[in-house]
Amino acid sequence: MHLHLSLIPGDGVGPEVVAAACDVLDAVASRFGHVVERPSYLMGGAALRTGRPALPPETLAGCRASQATLLGAVGDPAFDHLPSKERPEGGLLALRKGLGVFANLRPTRIWPGLEDAAPLRPEIARGSDLLIVRELTGGLYFGEPRQIDRLRGEAFNTMRYTTPEIERIAHVAFKSARGRRKHVTSVDKANVLETSQLWRAIVTEVASGYPDVTLDHMYVDSCAMALVTRPSRFDVILTENLFGDILSDEAAVIAGSIGLLPSASLGHGPGLYEPVHGSAPDIAGQDKANPLGTIASLALLFRHSLSLADEAAAIEHAIEATLKAGDRTADLLGVTPALGCRQMGTRVADRIR
Ligand code: IPM
Ligand code: MG
Repeated sequence: MHLHLSLIPGDGVGPEVVAAACDVLDAVASRFGHVVERPSYLMGGAALRTGRPALPPETLAGCRASQATLLGAVGDPAFDHLPSKERPEGGLLALRKGLGVFANLRPTRIWPGLEDAAPLRPEIARGSDLLIVRELTGGLYFGEPRQIDRLRGEAFNTMRYTTPEIERIAHVAFKSARGRRKHVTSVDKANVLETSQLWRAIVTEVASGYPDVTLDHMYVDSCAMALVTRPSRFDVILTENLFGDILSDEAAVIAGSIGLLPSASLGHGPGLYEPVHGSAPDIAGQDKANPLGTIASLALLFRHSLSLADEAAAIEHAIEATLKAGDRTADLLGVTPALGCRQMGTRVADRIR
């Protein structure tokens, strides 16, 4: 097949992890006989540094015209002084909104062999395999009005959700649960927030169309605790944008490192695939980053945007075999010497070839 993808290496460790994933992409293309077109686009700090806005129009247009986009990371402390919308992160949010990718899927599981590398005691983490379905284009991240007034010493944001926004993300969660253990936990703060009260009511209504799926509700504070005390109780966690951002970093503890976690952002058009981790400026350019989250995101890209399930499985098996063989980057505790980002990518790519 002729595949048309877009790459956004972005900031910090982004270019390194995307390069490693491209090594894997080339291996998949040669093994399965695909021709891959994959232009790179600027975004975030990388765009700002060349005098461009955080989301240059040609970047959005390029992503819209391709089948899917693989993104490294966005965020650059050099631009922390800018207003929210002009910052590198503002570019990422504009890209998510511009692509209409309202459903962010963040799977977490324990890769075999990593049980002892993870901070949770093995008997707590054992058997954990969960999927966070995070609403991605609404809530506090996008709510208007929003303002910071330094002179008055006052700032505010708006958390707003509409019924259609809640319905469509709930459908994604229930459909995902059907392919898994058929259990959705909807996470909110309905004891305090009106947005959460609407959320809970709508999710409950949508659930009636999925009688084969069990629904329970949890407050976000209680969910935060249960994620690290009883992680195996969860199958699909359905939640709004900010709660999903926070809980997905916490869920990384179960896997052993945030560097392992992939994500898929889906809407009605091309998807956006990115690791859950950020730009990690402290280790950027040192070949220390873990590329597996990006490589696993590439697997999700093959599965969800290209409907090429064998290619996705080949990537995931290669990641599993690489970890089983004892190959580790520095973020996975207790191993010396650690492999570099590039080497780790090569190990996975070689297994696919
Ligand atoms: C994530 C990141 C982003 C978010 C940042 C970089 C804007 O933390 O994808 O989880 O908050 O969504
Ligand atoms: Mg985050």
